Amino acid sequence: MKAWQLASLCILIIAARMVNSNLEGDILIAQRSAWNDPHNVLQTWDPTLVNPCTWLHVTCNNENSVIRLDLGNASLSGPLSPRLGGLANLQYLELYANFITGAIPTELGNLTKLVSLDLYLNRLTGSIPSSLGNIQSLVFLRLHSNNLNGGIPPTLGNLIKLAILDFSSNALSGSIPSSLGNIESLVNLRLNGNNLSGVIPEQVLDLIVTGNLTEINVSDNYMNGTTRNSGKRVTTIIQDA
Ligand SMILES: *[C@@H]1O[C@H](CO)[C@@H](O)[C@H](O)[C@H]1NC(C)=O
Ligand SMILES: *[C@@H]1O[C@H](CO)[C@@H](O)[C@H](O)[C@H]1NC(C)=O
Ligand SMILES: *[C@@H]1O[C@H](CO)[C@@H](O)[C@H](O)[C@H]1NC(C)=O
Ligand SMILES: *[C@@H]1O[C@H](CO)[C@@H](O)[C@H](O)[C@H]1NC(C)=O
Ligand SMILES: *[C@@H]1O[C@H](CO)[C@@H](O)[C@H](O)[C@H]1NC(C)=O
Ligand SMILES: *[C@@H]1O[C@H](CO)[C@@H](O)[C@H](O)[C@H]1NC(C)=O
Repeated sequence: MKAWQLASLCILIIAARMVNSNLEGDILIAQRSAWNDPHNVLQTWDPTLVNPCTWLHVTCNNENSVIRLDLGNASLSGPLSPRLGGLANLQYLELYANFITGAIPTELGNLTKLVSLDLYLNRLTGSIPSSLGNIQSLVFLRLHSNNLNGGIPPTLGNLIKLAILDFSSNALSGSIPSSLGNIESLVNLRLNGNNLSGVIPEQVLDLIVTGNLTEINVSDNYMNGTTRNSGKRVTTIIQDA
């Protein structure tokens, strides 16, 4: 390869990188315009910069791709943009304790590097997308204290790294999928304060012995039967109301 060919190849690669970074910036700008931001926490989000990596509340890796969005407790209101699903390297989506409305976009299931999805204490409605079962890297899935309805997707049984699943204080109905019994890494299962029925599946109870499960809270639902376990590792199982 001649020197000029190499040089133009390098320029092409650099240009591609910049386009890529701008693409993530564009996604965040689309999200910003969907939100109401009364405390101007997003005022450093300048779309004219080559990438979003210097914006406050945004963290990038050394390839200028976004890996964290830290906007918990920021008084933001409005919906989640489906375009957030395009932040391919995102590991932490921290949007808890805001006034976010609307549904959880199905597209968030495309965030296959995500470790933590924290959308708790918002005003989210609609059902939990089954696509979240694609995020095999998830360790923390906290959607509690919203107005989510519908069932718990059985696909969540694919989340084999999950430690905390907290869906408490919503309006979820139906029964607890037995597939959750696949999650040997699960430590806390908080489903209290919903509209769930049925019994805790055998496969889930088995995790107390075979897995890492130390807390199951299903109190304050429409579940039948009573299961109490006073084993050392288990703090609470309350299946009756
Ligand atoms: C939100 O911020 C306020 C004031 O800074 C603080 O008192 C409160 O504990 C925070 N809430 C959460 C859920 O982090
Ligand atoms: C993202 O997810 C949606 C819905 O789950 C899907 O239709 C779409 O093809 C995905 N996009 C990419 C780029 O993977
Ligand atoms: C259970 O917890 C231990 C100690 O935290 C950890 O080393 C182990 O990997 C966990 N098991 C699973 C299946 O995640
Ligand atoms: C379980 O949930 C109930 C009701 O939602 C709550 O009052 C209780 O404190 C929870 N138990 C534990 C151990 O967190
Ligand atoms: C919760 O369940 C009860 C009893 O099955 C039902 O009457 C009620 O409509 C349900 N509420 C929601 C929000 O699903
Ligand atoms: C649970 O309750 C429903 C309705 O109250 C009843 O039909 C069902 O037989 C009960 N199941 C068990 C296992 O007790």
